[in-house]
Amino acid sequence: MQLIDGKAVSASVLEECRAQVDSLAGKGLRPGLAVVLVGDDPASRAYVRSKERTCIELGIHSVKMELSTETSQEELMAVIDSLNEDEDVDGILVQSPPPPHIDERAIVLAIDPSKDVDGFHPVNVAKLALEDPGGFVPCTPLGCQRLLGHYKIQTKGARVVVVGRSMIVGKPMAMLLMSRGELGDATVTVAHSRTADLPEVCRNADILVAAVGLPEFIGRDHVQEGAVVIDVGINRVEDSVAKKGYRLVGDVNFEDVASRCRAITPVPGGVGPMTIAMLMSNTVKACAQRRGIETGDLA
Ligand code: GUN
Repeated sequence: MQLIDGKAVSASVLEECRAQVDSLAGKGLRPGLAVVLVGDDPASRAYVRSKERTCIELGIHSVKMELSTETSQEELMAVIDSLNEDEDVDGILVQSPPPPHIDERAIVLAIDPSKDVDGFHPVNVAKLALEDPGGFVPCTPLGCQRLLGHYKIQTKGARVVVVGRSMIVGKPMAMLLMSRGELGDATVTVAHSRTADLPEVCRNADILVAAVGLPEFIGRDHVQEGAVVIDVGINRVEDSVAKKGYRLVGDVNFEDVASRCRAITPVPGGVGPMTIAMLMSNTVKACAQRRGIETGDLA
């Protein structure tokens, strides 16, 4: 069994970004990322802080906006409008999920698609479906694909089962892996909470992507011998022994399935670090693209 080291692969993605940021600096350009958080969900706050820290480490201009839970839809829309107009901002991310009174769909629609580094705007969703490389692909599935590529896990012709159909992970993951090309060409099945006989469906997978958001939901009976398992879940579960009172577990019961796997991502240290790295990569791409520079020409 091979442990897929997301920390190591994300470090190499970040090195690549750093070189591209330096190359842009040589042209007098600096990528900028704005991260907007509404409310005080502790996990979201931690993600936002870590995004800011990574920007600063790479020399990316970081704008962090922490708005109160009571922020109205109109106020949030006004913030998005001003970030759309801001020449120093190439990427805009509104941390999901927002408080329940916010219409997330309207917020996503308001973001300039050329700054939509999350890849949630319908224009970018369509570009992914159309296999147009000029769009933005959501960071988590992009990170999963990069991990597979790094470990030379062939997707071409592979049976992939994605468990979960969210806008953030499941749907874009499926589209990405069924796209034509070296890191695609897979036969993809999307399963979800209404799928009949889920374990049986999952056991068909050469590559199983778990993105259900339920702690340790995927067990032995879901995994075929020799499968590659990508665990997208980051769940906080109570743990009185842990210093913080909780520990992080994935959507996969690691202990239960690891011995059956050809390769598996741990939680933490698997997919998690890749998401931020791909966000930085998308931000560099946005900066270059908005100024008519090919990212291939950088560094
Ligand atoms: N919440 C969990 N993952 C993500 C993500 O990739 N982008 C945003 N905006 N919110 C998230």
